[in-house]
Amino acid sequence: MHYFEYKNGSMHAEEVPVADLAREYGTPLYVYSASTLRRHFKAFDSAFNGLEHLTCFSVKANSNISVLRMMAELGGGMDIVSGGELFRALKAGVPGNKIVYSGVGKKDHEIREALAADILMFNVESMQELSRINDIALDMGRVARISFRINPDVDPKTHPYISTGMKKNKFGLDIEHSRKAYDLALELPGIDPVGMDCHIGSQLTSIEPFMETLEKLLRFYNELEEKGVHIRYLDLGGGLGITYDQEEPPHPEEFGKALTDALNGLPLTLILEPGRVIAGNMGILVTEVQYLKSTPSKNFVIVDAAMNDLVRPALYQSYHGIGEVEPRGRACKVYDVVGPICETSDFLARDRELPETEQGELLAVYSAGAYGFTMASNYNSRPRPAEVMVDGEKVSVIRKRETYQDLVALEL
Ligand code: LLP
Repeated sequence: MHYFEYKNGSMHAEEVPVADLAREYGTPLYVYSASTLRRHFKAFDSAFNGLEHLTCFSVKANSNISVLRMMAELGGGMDIVSGGELFRALKAGVPGNKIVYSGVGKKDHEIREALAADILMFNVESMQELSRINDIALDMGRVARISFRINPDVDPKTHPYISTGMKKNKFGLDIEHSRKAYDLALELPGIDPVGMDCHIGSQLTSIEPFMETLEKLLRFYNELEEKGVHIRYLDLGGGLGITYDQEEPPHPEEFGKALTDALNGLPLTLILEPGRVIAGNMGILVTEVQYLKSTPSKNFVIVDAAMNDLVRPALYQSYHGIGEVEPRGRACKVYDVVGPICETSDFLARDRELPETEQGELLAVYSAGAYGFTMASNYNSRPRPAEVMVDGEKVSVIRKRETYQDLVALEL
């Protein structure tokens, strides 16, 4: 569900015609809908009302400070994976005690910064990381709250690049190593093991892998309880998928009910780290058709957005819906929608049936609110697009378009 709809024959972002935004702010342009963002956060968060819980928005999905601030105002915490994300979360007004920190490669200075911010917990992914956090905490005269990220060896049945909870993945510790890890954590004076964590992958379209994981974690939780290790937080990560094409992911309510049934009565605070399910469908990428070109085998629409602006199709062969901003009722044709970058992987859609389009017309690429701008680069020396937030009739530029000067600003 989102608020990009056709009204009076043209696509609107809430109350604002998308064509007006393109005229005013240029293309390519990320356009976000504030009502969609709020609605998705509330729908997700309220699905867990039956449990003590904290919804930590996954900053990597969309890290614009205005987006993070909206999440914080709704009571959300943040899931971070770097010092840069910590900096953004704090700048957006998120209190340290609502921040959880995952990632396999936390550096010394990042651990220090997180301890200084008194974050809720580190999701620890290796024994060496545990020892590094202990040393730094002692040096700072602090005790670090931690959980171990458990790798449950569950197949999330998603794209291999975004599967994270299988034996062969670099993430977390298997249960065998986790046993030793909790034993050691109890002995380390700079460490307080308060939680258990996992994140098995992204864009999951069924509940089963989550439940299989939860079952394994709860078995381990009971084992720890018997040993006298009392965990207070259970962090199940993110991963709930959205509809890009034909997928039918479970509604957050269904997900919430399944988890509530499984966890009811346990003295645990559930932590969730949703990214895509909240931000994915709150954004579109608006692009202008530059050229049309037909070869004996293909019809190409060459647009002004490229893989540097939205890399998902190039990287994961992901499907993103594409719609006309001002539909003209023309017959359909099969197109490859491609950008100006000098790579064959630079496409937004392949063999896609779209109404015939012409030079200068606008197209909107859907579901671009998560892992869109955050994965954008300057490849081919292309300044990154502006981001605008629409809220009813109000439009705010939440990130300016980069300039050529920005491209070289740090070069000496
Ligand atoms: N927590 C952790 C520890 C994660 O690594 C991730 C995503 C999340 C939460 C949020 O997952 P979500 O709810 O958004 O599925 N660039 C890829 C997605 C990579 C996800 C990485 N980790 C894409 O565009 O599909």
